[in-house]
Amino acid sequence: MAEDKKAVPLENGTEFNRRQFFVKLGIGSLSIAAAGTAAFGYQFLSPNVLYEPSPTVNAGKPESYPLDSVTLDVNSGIYIIHSSEGFFSLSAVCTHLGCLTAWKPELGMIACPCHGSKFKQSGEKIEGPAPKPLPWKKMWVNDDGDLLVDRSTDIRPMQFVRV
Ligand code: FES
Repeated sequence: MAEDKKAVPLENGTEFNRRQFFVKLGIGSLSIAAAGTAAFGYQFLSPNVLYEPSPTVNAGKPESYPLDSVTLDVNSGIYIIHSSEGFFSLSAVCTHLGCLTAWKPELGMIACPCHGSKFKQSGEKIEGPAPKPLPWKKMWVNDDGDLLVDRSTDIRPMQFVRV
């Protein structure tokens, strides 16, 4: 048998020729392509779901909100308000372009830092470019006596929760 002139001797005594090189290169390329196809297929078949936090917020015990207090929950984007009529919750997200508003106790109003909209404690607009009042959010008391707020549900104003 004629010796392959292009075979390269390896350290372990075997030879490695051009044909073997291209076979291994082909197998490697196919393996990479198969892995890419499998990864794409897995991603394609996986449900395209965005997992968001629950719209329901547990605001804790009513006793933690003094009478005539306005408490901003920054993480949830809501106010918990304890007025003489009862508890209620407002969205803290400005109805203009969505900035987070802030309660200004010295002025007795809610103000938006972005373009100057101002709202009463009841959510009614006082001035500024906001097209609508701050919406009231559904609030109730659960069996443990905690205040719960459903951020996804707007309600008509003046529906107070009395504890
Ligand atoms: S986002 Fe609040 S006034 Fe523009």
